[in-house]
Amino acid sequence: MMQFKLNGNDVMVPEDSNLLEYLREDACLTSVKNGCGEGACGACMVLVDGKAQRACILTTTKVQGKAVLTVEGLSEREKEVYAWAFAEAGAVQCGFCIPGMVISAKALLDQNANPSPAEIKKALQGNICRCTGYVKIEKAIAMAAKALREGIIPPAENSCRVGRRAPRIDAREKVLGTGEYVDDLKVKGMLYGAVLRSKYPRALVKRIDVAVARAYPGVEAVLTAGDIPGERFLGHIIHDWPVMIAEGEETRYVGDALALVAASSKTAARQALQLIQVEYEERTPLLSPQEALADRAPQLHPSGNLLARTVLKRGNATAAIAQAKYVVSHKYTTPPTEHAFLEPESALAVPEKDGTLTVYTGGQSVYDEHHGIVAMLGVPGETVRVISKLVGGGFGGKEDLSVQHHAALLAWHTQKPVKLTLSRSESILVHPKRHPMELEFTTACDEQGRITAVQAYIVADKGAYASLGGPVMQRACTHAAGPYQIKNVDIVGIGVYTNNPPAGAFRGFGVTQSCFAMESNLNELAEQLGLSPWEIRFRNAIEPGMVLPNGQIADAGTAFKETLLAVKAVFDTHPGAGIACAMKNSGLGVGVPDVGRVKIKVLGGRALVCTSAACMGQGLATVMLQIVAETTGLGEDSIQVHVPDTAITPDGGTSTASRQTVFTGEAARQAALALKEDLRSHSLAELEGREYYREYQGITDPMNSDKPNPVSHVAYGYATQVVVLDEAGRIEKIVAAHDIGRAINPTTVEGQIEGGVVMGMGYALTEDFPLEKGVPTAKFGTLGLLRCGTVPVIECLLVEKNLDPLAYGAKGIGEIVCIPTAPAIAGAYYRRDGKLRTSLPLPETPYSRTRRT
Ligand code: FES
Ligand code: FES
Repeated sequence: MMQFKLNGNDVMVPEDSNLLEYLREDACLTSVKNGCGEGACGACMVLVDGKAQRACILTTTKVQGKAVLTVEGLSEREKEVYAWAFAEAGAVQCGFCIPGMVISAKALLDQNANPSPAEIKKALQGNICRCTGYVKIEKAIAMAAKALREGIIPPAENSCRVGRRAPRIDAREKVLGTGEYVDDLKVKGMLYGAVLRSKYPRALVKRIDVAVARAYPGVEAVLTAGDIPGERFLGHIIHDWPVMIAEGEETRYVGDALALVAASSKTAARQALQLIQVEYEERTPLLSPQEALADRAPQLHPSGNLLARTVLKRGNATAAIAQAKYVVSHKYTTPPTEHAFLEPESALAVPEKDGTLTVYTGGQSVYDEHHGIVAMLGVPGETVRVISKLVGGGFGGKEDLSVQHHAALLAWHTQKPVKLTLSRSESILVHPKRHPMELEFTTACDEQGRITAVQAYIVADKGAYASLGGPVMQRACTHAAGPYQIKNVDIVGIGVYTNNPPAGAFRGFGVTQSCFAMESNLNELAEQLGLSPWEIRFRNAIEPGMVLPNGQIADAGTAFKETLLAVKAVFDTHPGAGIACAMKNSGLGVGVPDVGRVKIKVLGGRALVCTSAACMGQGLATVMLQIVAETTGLGEDSIQVHVPDTAITPDGGTSTASRQTVFTGEAARQAALALKEDLRSHSLAELEGREYYREYQGITDPMNSDKPNPVSHVAYGYATQVVVLDEAGRIEKIVAAHDIGRAINPTTVEGQIEGGVVMGMGYALTEDFPLEKGVPTAKFGTLGLLRCGTVPVIECLLVEKNLDPLAYGAKGIGEIVCIPTAPAIAGAYYRRDGKLRTSLPLPETPYSRTRRT
């Protein structure tokens, strides 16, 4: 019997167990999160006798006789201070890391009431945040220290109008750990799901024998492909991803599911997996696009191995290159990247008494999840309801079904609630990554440094399944020539199926890769011309009324040049500074139906804003509240934002393509205008029960439209980032100037920029996702994610010039923030040592690691 104090109370634990497991499952403490289970992320941080320690690598025996403290055990005063400081500083995004950060902060402040910035950084070295870039977390801790020292909590920003730094409405519950992520849920009689994955990237599955597993004590169901009542192949656009691999079928990657187990305990479910017998015939996997496109290569899908081919042609690039005074041509390679959102995937499916199924999820679109589950079960849409809980980060990696359909199928068969949560290693194995690409870029210009042509050939390794590979290839191509006025472009991109993990959406959506190539070529061109890297960009920069490389005319709100001017002083005063620019669309564009939908319902004397748009950490609910408050004049207390729920909230589309602030934001503005009209003659109470529903549809032209100037996307954001190295070659400062149209909430926008820049730094310098014959070898701790001690000064410059009333002029910011960072860093090293680095992570920098395989 182990005995220790937990949050001031004596507890007795009958047998030794993992401390994190005990705290979450037995003590039901939800502030302690399982981000990795392997001691790398710090989301499980607790105080043990006043020292910050990771609960996932402790056992109850190790804390015998000691005092364990979690966020739930903080004094009321401390809770108030930390909740205020983190909300006010804008330190909370997805929130999954935050209680762990609070514990590390408490460990520091209990010893040192007035820590220096360096001491705060040191105290956070055991905690990873994937969202914020740490800047505002460090600020929040300094604010908390001051408030605790002085005993005063200054008043919070009290306006929630557009343009104000309103604190996030979900900050408090995330700081204190009371907000619910799916894995925090428990329901009576709940079973635990587990999934048997393929042993090989490519193998014929000859036989799956589940008889022994089915008989294992505690097991309630073992399902295989034959147990799927509806469609077995799912997917966003192309339905090529099997819910489970069937006998007689080949596996396509090591994340493929072969069988599902539901059992009364996690242990029983895992044990049962070991008892499933699979007879494989191992086959040689296709590990590169070249292998997959070779003559007589086996076809991984009935349609062949070429998933997508995108062509963007305007003018005559070949002729322009032949006539150009200066031409630069290089081949670049970029690696796959893991999203590393802090919350591993989890879903809970609950059969209801009326024969329906409710699925609690934490993805990027409840309606996408709904479509997939309904198709798989072969039932009418109303049979399934999907409700989102808090989402612990996504970045594109939670757009595909990962656990939702499996939990649903198990619950459907057992008619019992089933929760399925991936371990970190499974999460890394299963969900799609950022596309690895090979990019051959030729860029030409005249004597004045005007770019005359860009020719590019881009090959992406799609991995096993399409996911969003087609649209990613399109964006890589449509944005390949950057935000410049270039008349001749010839861009071809292909995506090729292989037996590597699937590639899909990832913040930047293909543009992170092509921007690295284009901007790096520009640096060499500038050198040949004797121009500064700033000057060549300024001479070619797109302005309102000019034609973008894809043919679209830049609108009046285009403020790209303003971002270049905003960084000119810092660029000029640091002779070796690197610089890069980018553009990124808001919305799906290219003629794809794209609609934001919002219903405002007056309920209980408040305006309830209903939208299915997912908040994965970007602060969407607060943005919606600010837009409705600004439009109607109602105060924050009179407005509430509903969680995404397919039974209540209209389909606002996926949180992807930097679209929600614009699309759902505009729908919210229009719905709020209708409410405002009624508020002229009625009080809110008098409007009880009324509903105001509006849609905003972005009208765009398809790829390769025959219009001379097609509208590819409804809006573009533009950015310039500058990187300053210190004498040792480490990054001292990054200045990020972004044309954001208009900041609905400047604190939120800065948080996106800081987080995106740090993610971009990781992409540039340390992050990698090595594969050994198609099998990922990385653990969470070896992905190369940056910790706060590595983060330099990040200065955000917001350019707001868009007068368009659409969504108050806001443009999407979610993706562009991490696009120019890698080439800007590459540019700084190029200026430092003259070596053009053509691969990521950049070789030969002070950050370079030995590649792990
Ligand atoms: S869950 Fe313990 S360190 Fe990540
Ligand atoms: S807020 Fe830190 S991981 Fe999301």
